[in-house]
Amino acid sequence: MEKKIFLTEKDMPRAWYNIQADLPNPLPPPLNPATGEPITPDMLAPILPMNLIEQEVSTERWIDIPDEVMERLLMYRPSPLCRAYALEQFLGTPAHIYYKNEGVSPAGSHKPNTAIAQAYYNKIAGIKRLTTETGAGQWGSAISFACNQFGLDIKVYMVRVSYNQKPYRRIMMETWGGRCVPSPSPDTSVGRKFLAENPEHSGSLGIAISEAIEDCVTSKDTKYSLGSVLNHVIMHQTIIGLEAEKQLAIAGEYPDVVIGCAGGGSNFGGLTFPFVRDKIHGKEVRIIASEPTSCPTLTKGPYTYDFGDTAGTTPLLPMHSIGHGFVPAPIHAGGLRYHGMAPLVSRVLMDGLIEAKAYNQVETFSAGLIFARTEGFIPAPETNHAIACAIEEAKRAKEEGKEKVILMNFSGHGIIDLPSYDAFMSGKLEDYSLPDEDIAELIKDLEKFPKP
Ligand SMILES: Cc1ncc(COP(=O)(O)O)c(C=O)c1O
Repeated sequence: MEKKIFLTEKDMPRAWYNIQADLPNPLPPPLNPATGEPITPDMLAPILPMNLIEQEVSTERWIDIPDEVMERLLMYRPSPLCRAYALEQFLGTPAHIYYKNEGVSPAGSHKPNTAIAQAYYNKIAGIKRLTTETGAGQWGSAISFACNQFGLDIKVYMVRVSYNQKPYRRIMMETWGGRCVPSPSPDTSVGRKFLAENPEHSGSLGIAISEAIEDCVTSKDTKYSLGSVLNHVIMHQTIIGLEAEKQLAIAGEYPDVVIGCAGGGSNFGGLTFPFVRDKIHGKEVRIIASEPTSCPTLTKGPYTYDFGDTAGTTPLLPMHSIGHGFVPAPIHAGGLRYHGMAPLVSRVLMDGLIEAKAYNQVETFSAGLIFARTEGFIPAPETNHAIACAIEEAKRAKEEGKEKVILMNFSGHGIIDLPSYDAFMSGKLEDYSLPDEDIAELIKDLEKFPKP
């Protein structure tokens, strides 16, 4: 009865998996909003270094992890795969529940897996400074850590509501030498526009992205870095699923159900894409993305072309979206409040390779509390969505009397999110589902865009 399954450092995967090589239907290209034509790699060059643009469009199945990236990943990888015996016992389920613990990284989540790679590729391309946005602050802290490792400057635009709710994340960024400002900020013309409309604007990921991109294209030796959504980001995260595959094999198991929470899709794609590949090749496995009812991108948003940001400065991406004008309710799962979704995750949903489910905030925190009181670790609010789904599946296995194997991603710990647990335990958290009328209004604006 092993509780944790470790891989040795020498058994850690040496290449990332690129699902673009195996997709049954290729990804539609991003489009230039002005012309409606596919964008070319050189059009991305003002914001991304060429080596990452190459990865973005690559259809090579495996891409080697450079030694300098490997060196940093080894600070906390391979991450443990844990069997949740206590949770299973609490639920009285015959299911075997496994969780991949990505909370063991320096920043406390899966985000450093791509932050390290992105900082490295920018460094070798001669870039001196990065700009980025962050919601809950997990990504901002991860990229600050990674930039520090490679000697790059970093400026982080943090959604104001989270900046105020989560001061410790800013302090983490500063500890690693990063600079963090609340968004909308007076530092960019986009930020000033939103502040003029409302000086107390709570911000959104879409606005913070617009600010970070504006800063990037108007500054010297600077590129932009994104913590989710893009193809290369998800590819860097596949280290999670590749390790988990090997670890489950050591335990003599293969999953019936694989679960991840989905904000922009990076930890979900990172854990599940190696299993989606198996499914494409005939394996039977259910793969579930779990998202909040307050931002139901995959469960209610159409598959459409939309901007990646609020100001409309990015190319049009083929994805599930509830509209780039979305300003989220201030729930605590900050990292899941993005209006769009990774084009790769959107594509595999359209192809019926994955499912999506939405959960209310209160049930996700109830699940997180059960997890903390059985397995001990306090999960990030985002991670609670995956746990709520895993618990639901484990209960189903009990009803059906089946010994199912459930694999889920523990995308991060919640030790810096304790005020949200406080709010939950004192009965102050309320459920919120984005009304269908609001979604209908938000997506009206997308009718003018071509359909993927
Ligand atoms: C712990 C944690 N899990 C999940 C997410 C959601 O992001 P993604 O969907 O890209 O994994 C975030 C985003 O900040 C996060 O911090």
